[in-house]
Amino acid sequence: MRLPRRALGPSLEPTVVVLGAMGFGSRSPEAESRHLQDCLTLGVGAVDTAPLYGFGQSERALGDALRRSGLRPEVYTKVGLRWDDTHGDVLFVGRDPDGVERVVRRDGRPEQVRRDVLASCERLGLERLDLVQVHHRDYQVPVDETLGALADLVREGRVRAVGVSNFEAEDVRAAARALGDLPLVSLQSPYSLLDRGVERGPLAAARSVGAGLLAYSPLAQGLLTGAHGPGRRYDADDWRASTPLFSVKSRRAIAEAVNDTLRPLASEHEVGPAALALAWLLHRDGVTAVIAGASRPSQLEESLRAATVSLSAAELARLEARFGLLPPSPSVAERVRTRLRGRLGAVRRRVRGLIDRVLP
Ligand SMILES: NC(=O)c1ccc[n+]([C@@H]2O[C@H](COP(=O)([O-])OP(=O)(O)OC[C@H]3O[C@@H](n4cnc5c(N)ncnc54)[C@H](OP(=O)(O)O)[C@@H]3O)[C@@H](O)[C@H]2O)c1
Repeated sequence: MRLPRRALGPSLEPTVVVLGAMGFGSRSPEAESRHLQDCLTLGVGAVDTAPLYGFGQSERALGDALRRSGLRPEVYTKVGLRWDDTHGDVLFVGRDPDGVERVVRRDGRPEQVRRDVLASCERLGLERLDLVQVHHRDYQVPVDETLGALADLVREGRVRAVGVSNFEAEDVRAAARALGDLPLVSLQSPYSLLDRGVERGPLAAARSVGAGLLAYSPLAQGLLTGAHGPGRRYDADDWRASTPLFSVKSRRAIAEAVNDTLRPLASEHEVGPAALALAWLLHRDGVTAVIAGASRPSQLEESLRAATVSLSAAELARLEARFGLLPPSPSVAERVRTRLRGRLGAVRRRVRGLIDRVLP
């Protein structure tokens, strides 16, 4: 399918659906590379990755898929998070593909930004990165220093364009100022029918400095696809089991809205609910592209159909009115249950880790 493209700053032009490579890392490197290769051949013109995804595995698999396929979409990656040092504020604690616990920290110091960029070039097998985004603001480092390091890398030819991610409105403006003559081309933020927080400041700030919005988690991590009804069960160590948005009550309410509004409208446009949810985003002012994840190439194929949908003002309003009532806040009992499930998952992982260490 030939997908439309939109300008992102003066030098980039992603397809309106960008492939998100965050989920890559759980399968073997060969399987990841094959999966990415299959996705690339569907016609996406840009892929979003990060050193953090699969703790390096997503970038390595993408580099491998680029080499094998001979295709060269625009490659967007990130800097500023690390798990190999005790410096910096802790963002979260996770597990790498080998099950080893990793403490992920913010590190926006200039020398670390440079190290991140060079390590990404190495993993991706690229001399030059198309877009490098500061993954999360490091509040211990002045934004001028972090962005200044990226500006130097642009002047040296290592990086074509600079963006930020998860930044608040005032930080977006500060980042644009810090770049001086160079443009801040993008803000990457969560944005979907179920999460419109970016409309409370960051989207307007991005527009005011000429940066395009790259909407991440546009399907609310799968909830807007109709595949997560209240009857679905998750293993205790599945992150969704301890996420309030995936609680039974929340999924029931979201599934109702998907079934009574999103799905019928999608059928009228001869697409599935996922494509319609993405199409809604592509009609929002300031959105350049959506970054859609896919655990199978057929899911991406479905998402790409978003580009074919044109929605009327009345249809947009219908979706906004229905999903504006969601998500419901979980009850106290539900919050306690999801927290306990999360703890149980953590205990199970710890026991498994101990067994692996004792009985290798
Ligand atoms: N900058 C940041 O901090 C940040 C944070 C998060 C994500 N991101 C970027 O955004 C990308 C996408 O985010 P995301 O994966 O959180 O969310 P998403 O795109 O909202 O959801 C993707 C998930 O939805 C399901 N899905 C996708 N298409 C489907 C279809 N047609 N039918 C049924 N299910 C479908 C798949 O999961 P199942 O098959 O398991 O249901 C897939 O993994 C990431 O890959 C990453 O590049 C950036």
